[in-house]
Amino acid sequence: MSNVTLSKEGTEMDLRAEIDSLREEIKILKGQLRSMEYTTNLEREAYKRELSGAYDEVNMLRRDRNLLKKQLDEVMKPPMLIGEVIEVIDRNELIIKNGTGQTFITTTGNDVSSTDLDIGSRVGLDRNNLVVMRVLTKGKDPIIMGSELIEKPTVSYDDIGGLDEAIMELKETVELPLLNPGVFKKIGIRPPSGVLLVGPPGTGKTLLAKAVANSAHCTFIRIVGSELVQKFIGEGGRLVRELFQMAREKKPCIIFVDELDAIGARRLGMDTTGDREVQRTLMQLLAEMDGFHPLQEIGVMAATNRKDIIDEALLRPGRFDRIIDVPLPDRKGREKILGIHTKGMKLAGTITLRNLAERTDGLSGADLRNLCTEAGMFAIRRKHSSIRKDDMEDAMAKILQRKDPDIEKQPHHMFS
Ligand SMILES: Nc1ncnc2c1ncn2[C@@H]1O[C@H](COP(=O)(O)OP(=O)(O)OP(=O)(O)O)[C@@H](O)[C@H]1O
Ligand SMILES: [Mg+2]
Repeated sequence: MSNVTLSKEGTEMDLRAEIDSLREEIKILKGQLRSMEYTTNLEREAYKRELSGAYDEVNMLRRDRNLLKKQLDEVMKPPMLIGEVIEVIDRNELIIKNGTGQTFITTTGNDVSSTDLDIGSRVGLDRNNLVVMRVLTKGKDPIIMGSELIEKPTVSYDDIGGLDEAIMELKETVELPLLNPGVFKKIGIRPPSGVLLVGPPGTGKTLLAKAVANSAHCTFIRIVGSELVQKFIGEGGRLVRELFQMAREKKPCIIFVDELDAIGARRLGMDTTGDREVQRTLMQLLAEMDGFHPLQEIGVMAATNRKDIIDEALLRPGRFDRIIDVPLPDRKGREKILGIHTKGMKLAGTITLRNLAERTDGLSGADLRNLCTEAGMFAIRRKHSSIRKDDMEDAMAKILQRKDPDIEKQPHHMFS
């Protein structure tokens, strides 16, 4: 019996031990399982990271490829021609003119909206079929930017010597209409449409135009005639038109056409492409001036030193109908100009401007300025602390000789 009990007890103990060992085993297994889970989790994370990295790389390469493809497309495209819209016939048919002046009828490409097209717009044309591929923006035109635009010139009448008469006339004919158009309206007269400054080189024409703009609180827009016809062949007309357009946006302002003779010279019978180009530019200028009323806050000025060759059409009423002489300075004028240019300079007491003025007959304002600068250069070279008489004399000899190379042969003929 007891045996049975014993054995029963024995079995019980065995079983317990067995259970315990099993429990132990389970514990270990659970531990193992946990650590296995841990590693797989880690691995999974790592894989995930790797995968997303790979995705990123693929995307980046795709982007690169697209970019390169685009660049390649751009490079492979044939260059476009430039044209100008002359007339819009209907929604997608128009007349355009190319740089050499030939006109074509053409249509617009798919990317071009006809609402962007205006008469005078610049467009890019397909090389083969002259279809309008794009409309070039206006405003940012680098060519028009090439003209000089000064919001507020700093030159004033006080910086100009010996041109009192010209200044008086400019005040009446350009400044007053800009500052006080009412006076003219009240009396019922039209001020001159355009003022032409005529005079030898270096007498202060450009200076005057800037000073007027300053005095009338105007923007100053300057364009040089010779640049219009030389640099921008085929585009002179458009440029003139855009210039006046810009003037309308910037008013009150003064438009100053320097070297007017380059576009306004009388025709001399030759009929080359260059002549026709000049002609077109001139026609555009005349057209713009005709469409202008002088009391619209825009003053038109021009300068030339060759009035004798200016086309009469430019001088007719409604165009440059007032001519103002800008002569070489007389003695008094020269003294004033010398005073202006030596204002900031240190002069030895023995130099008198009056004496200098007496001896510089025939020199222009620009020459006199050069004279002062040269004298200063001599003084610097000789380490003088101020400009002495001999510096001035040497500068004088140099300037006079440059002006007139013959002077060497008959020295001091100007000093007698
Ligand atoms: N009357 C003047 N008073 C003071 N300075 C002058 C005068 N005239 C000319 N100058 C000096 O000469 C420089 C050149 O003058 P400016 O450019 O106005 O001459 P311009 O008549 O326009 O000559 P161009 O016909 O060659 O264009 C000026 O910047 C100025 O320093
Ligand atoms: Mg000038």
